[in-house]
Amino acid sequence: MGSAGRGMQGAVHRSVLVLARQWPASLKCVCQLCEHTNFTCQTEGACWTSVMLTNGKEEVIKSCVSLPELNAQVFCHSSKNVTKTECCYTDFCNNITLHLPAESSSRPNLGPLMLAMIVAIPVCILSLAVMLTICIRQGRYCAYRKKKRQNIEEPLSECNLVNSGKTLKDLIYDMTTSGSGSGLPLLVQRTIARTIVLQEMVGKGRFGEVWRGKWCGEDVAVKIFSSRDERSWFREAEIYQTIMLRHENILGFIAADNKDNGTWTQLWLVSEYHDQGSLFDYLNRNTVTIDGMIKLALSIASGLAHLHMEIVGTQGKPAIAHRDMKSKNILVKKNETCAIADLGLAVKHDSVLNTIDIPLNPRVGTKRYMAPEILDDVMNINIFESFKHADIYSLGLVYWEISRRCSIGGLVEEYQLPFYDVVPSDPSVEDMRRAVCEQKLRPNIPNQWQSCEALRVMGRIMRECWYTNGAARLTALRIKKTISQLCVQEDCKA
Ligand SMILES: Nc1ncnc2c1ncn2[C@@H]1O[C@H](COP(=O)(O)OP(=O)(O)OP(=O)(O)O)[C@@H](O)[C@H]1O
Ligand SMILES: [Mg+2]
Repeated sequence: MGSAGRGMQGAVHRSVLVLARQWPASLKCVCQLCEHTNFTCQTEGACWTSVMLTNGKEEVIKSCVSLPELNAQVFCHSSKNVTKTECCYTDFCNNITLHLPAESSSRPNLGPLMLAMIVAIPVCILSLAVMLTICIRQGRYCAYRKKKRQNIEEPLSECNLVNSGKTLKDLIYDMTTSGSGSGLPLLVQRTIARTIVLQEMVGKGRFGEVWRGKWCGEDVAVKIFSSRDERSWFREAEIYQTIMLRHENILGFIAADNKDNGTWTQLWLVSEYHDQGSLFDYLNRNTVTIDGMIKLALSIASGLAHLHMEIVGTQGKPAIAHRDMKSKNILVKKNETCAIADLGLAVKHDSVLNTIDIPLNPRVGTKRYMAPEILDDVMNINIFESFKHADIYSLGLVYWEISRRCSIGGLVEEYQLPFYDVVPSDPSVEDMRRAVCEQKLRPNIPNQWQSCEALRVMGRIMRECWYTNGAARLTALRIKKTISQLCVQEDCKA
């Protein structure tokens, strides 16, 4: 297992420790990780034992489940071929050994008819799959398709979890408020991830593919990293699970899973699915009204302000800088507000030690959106504020992309990437440096924007995001306040 894999393992144990924390109660249970309390924990909920396949081996965990966790209905649930879990309610009743259902070794001898069926069924399934692929490729109506789709979307046994009308969002809320405040316990994340049915690929980025998947009838997004990019996967999962990061304008993280099938490791990051896709996709397809532009811009500023802000206290959060702000890394939600995504490059600030946890990750941001100080290689990476300033520069470029698509009096410009007119389509750092640092070019702010108050303000914000001196740029909070005032004038609902 790589270092990230070991980190994940450690995290699993941390989540078990969260489960095992003391609860004002009388039921005593076996707890393997409770060395300091003689391997015993106490709870008002239930004793818990679970076995899960981890890297090809059965990993058994025994602990306590608190009442809120019990109410969330996830812990006591076994998942076919993935986990076997039991909850019980008498002292030390979890002092038992569970095993996952045995596979081929315990199969009875099969007759010739049975053997023929075993050979014939996979062949049939394979043929059907080939036919289906051809059918979909040719784009022809296929009566089969609908039937098949219904089948694959059939609720899995895990859906008993949401029988009570709970959505994934409710589940995460329940768990977050009863646990460590950073998301679902890792064993639950694994169970969810391993019971998702992938539906279709919706995008491809530098680090792998993004799929739409189904979990209990709900759409989820699954970002699949190649094992080469294990560090990026681990870092992104780690950042998303920062305490108190959850915010309506930051992509809702659901689960991370590293599944080792013996040959390679599949790395999954599961998040909320937004069917409008990225802001880049959205602006290519749509124009926006003034209200629409303000709503998009305000929601991005709110998300970034939350990310940048340090919240002090035990339930606080560190300041985080994104480092890859661009329209492709922002998703558009159903209500036409945004969620900032792709936190794999982010850095956290430890204000007590005044340190930055720069990940040992070779990935750098997107050249087109890089601030002048990064292109010039003069940014002071020991000062956390520098990273925030660089985010603000990129935010200004995103605002320019949105504002161009704002229709006033029927006039609107076509969608373009920033600097489309001065650098080639896949610019090098040198191309960007020449334009942004040497020639000091910035995207053009059209004269007609002066005729509309909202666009005039957006233009002013952009200019104040693009100063060469990072420290002179606006803060995300200031931008949020300025746009909120616009919002009042324009009477828009964010
Ligand atoms: N949660 C999501 N819901 C819906 N669509 C998504 C989601 N996450 C990503 N996508 C889609 O998948 C595409 C690919 O995303 P990904 O982050 O892998 O690459 P990218 O942002 O296009 O490029 P880069 O690798 O530079 O970040 C996005 O552009 C978007 O259209
Ligand atoms: Mg991306």
